[in-house]
Amino acid sequence: MRNRFSVFETNKDDVQRRVNRLEGAITAILAGSLDEQLRAGAEHTAHELVGSLETLGLRRGCELARDLEQSLALPRGSVAAEGTHLAGCVRALRCELDDQMAQGCSDEGAGDSVGAGVIYHDADLLADDRELRHASPETGLTAVKSNPATSGLILVVDDDIATRRLLVWILADAGYDVRDVGSAGEARRALEHESVALLLSDVSMPGETGLDLIRFALCEHPQTATLMISALEDPRIAQVAMDFGAYGYLSKPVRRSAVLIGVMNALRRRDMEAQERVARETLECTLRFRTGALAQALKRLEGAIQQGRLLQAETIYRWAQAAEYRDPGIARHVKRMSRYCAVLGHTFGLPVESLEPASVLHDVGKIAIADSILLKPAPLTADERFAIETHADIGYGLLRGSCSSLLDLAALVARTHHEKFDGSGYPRGLSGTNIPLEGRIAAVADVFDAMTSHRVYSPAWSVDATIAWMRRERGKHFDPTVLDALLSSMDEILAIRSALGSE
Ligand SMILES: [Fe+2]
Ligand SMILES: [Fe+2]
Repeated sequence: MRNRFSVFETNKDDVQRRVNRLEGAITAILAGSLDEQLRAGAEHTAHELVGSLETLGLRRGCELARDLEQSLALPRGSVAAEGTHLAGCVRALRCELDDQMAQGCSDEGAGDSVGAGVIYHDADLLADDRELRHASPETGLTAVKSNPATSGLILVVDDDIATRRLLVWILADAGYDVRDVGSAGEARRALEHESVALLLSDVSMPGETGLDLIRFALCEHPQTATLMISALEDPRIAQVAMDFGAYGYLSKPVRRSAVLIGVMNALRRRDMEAQERVARETLECTLRFRTGALAQALKRLEGAIQQGRLLQAETIYRWAQAAEYRDPGIARHVKRMSRYCAVLGHTFGLPVESLEPASVLHDVGKIAIADSILLKPAPLTADERFAIETHADIGYGLLRGSCSSLLDLAALVARTHHEKFDGSGYPRGLSGTNIPLEGRIAAVADVFDAMTSHRVYSPAWSVDATIAWMRRERGKHFDPTVLDALLSSMDEILAIRSALGSE
């Protein structure tokens, strides 16, 4: 830690300069040549002296400077009358400083503990400090309650070298890591190259102002806390600084306690904001991770569902292949018919990935029909026709009641694919839209494929002849809208027929 006398020594020139300026003003008063501007300047100088001497702990000097400030604030006539008093105060002030210098020199070798006696004999200042410090057995003045060593760098920006030195001393003495620069430009360069925890900047500086600097810092270095300091006691400036995002505003002349409290609060707020930022980022990271995990789980689930669907469809097609042993050509019939159902179902917005495999099983009930009827190469008798018509309900009975929505749909198609739009179909004689749309679609697709394919009981019809016959059945056997969909999709239907073979 720096010797406190050396700090006083560092600031001596500034104090001396201000005392000299005051002496000049008082001399002008005694000579009767004092104008308002000079008097105001003298009053301001006295005000600055009060702050500097108070900060340095020179109570007697501080009282004299305050006396001067108050006397200079009186109306001009009274000031002139008090001229002698003012001159006496200035002389007393100079003597006081000389005495302190002499005492500091004689105590210099005693180190910090004696130096501390010079600086901190002001009872009021000690009272201020009580909030910030706790006593050390060695010096009586050691650690600040917060932990400045871990607070990061504080950058002091002020074109007034005396104020700068004073702030550096106050902060370094409290254990903070401090650097100082004399302009906003230097501060910008420092911010680019160093991690600055707190920017303590003067408002009024030649060139770029402290407000501009703070605005830059808040945009480019948002993790840097900012405190404004100014001799201009204007609430509007403080408001502007706060609006920019500054954490606080200090008035000159600076008071040690005010500086330390302001800095401590700013750094504490910065720490809290950093903690909130980390907590927020951690939460966002966790949410991202969990969202990603959920998306992956959903993807796996969708994959499993898709795989299950493919497995069901594959099983259904294998059943259809097995039917080939009973009825040659049936496997290709159901394949074509189910593809036609998919084309028509797409026209009506139905889920074709379900309708296509479900319609494969529309004739599954035929496994219960005797070969003598199923494969009879001649027209059927009425009883035989009745027997074969039972395949719709038999298929429904085979497929219904499972836990599979696909098999439920297959059961529905098996039961309704021979219903006719005019109600003359079987097994229940349903008509119009009482027939499920899937059943009306299956009816059109089934008849088109059956008529255009060779069967044991009937040669294949041409496509044109089939279409002509189906047009005549529009609104009778077939739902008009479904038949229209078939006709308007004929290119696609014929491409499927060609790809899968028509026999
Ligand atoms: Fe059938
Ligand atoms: Fe069929």
